[in-house]
Amino acid sequence: IPARVPSIPVAGDALDALREKARGCRMCPLWKPATQTVFGEGPQEAEIMFVGEQPGDKEDLAGHPFIGPAGQLFDRALGEAGLDRSSAYITNAVKHFKFTPRGKIRLHQKPNTTEIRACRPWLDQELDIVKPKLVIALGATAAQSLFGRAMPIGPNRGQFLRAGDARALITVHPSYLLRVPEEERKAEEYARFVEDLKLAHLVLK
Ligand code: URA
Repeated sequence: IPARVPSIPVAGDALDALREKARGCRMCPLWKPATQTVFGEGPQEAEIMFVGEQPGDKEDLAGHPFIGPAGQLFDRALGEAGLDRSSAYITNAVKHFKFTPRGKIRLHQKPNTTEIRACRPWLDQELDIVKPKLVIALGATAAQSLFGRAMPIGPNRGQFLRAGDARALITVHPSYLLRVPEEERKAEEYARFVEDLKLAHLVLK
């Protein structure tokens, strides 16, 4: 008896195969100017999935989600909320970096509804494979992708919603926290973000 039947994927294979397929995605024009597809990362058995907006400049170059300034803030907040990044699955609603070149820098552009929809099949498949208990949408683009319509953050924040079989939460995007101008408000907004993340413990226990 063979130790492994070759046609049945073992844990990890399904995500790897999907990631490989997404490398060649041409479902919208964003692939062309971008360096590469930045696919989700994390264990297939993750109980929490975080969905961001799209890779930024650093993520586009490195090929990994949430490693730039917003990612560093996110890591700090996760730590303060008592969550472990390495056991979560982290992905984005849109898998290519959308930008406008401005001299030497590439200015982030928000993905539009068509681009969000074009990328949704990848998120659907990530959800099907990982089957998280909880999905946390970071910001409005992630929420729009997850729920298939615009979902305002204010009234939905802090409430448990449903996304398919998973519970779902909506909170702000960490890059929003980087843009809050006054230090005092920034600290307040950051603390609120950490409180939102702590809600995950209610689903995990
Ligand atoms: N912002 C996102 O939404 N995703 C990333 O991967 C990085 C920054």
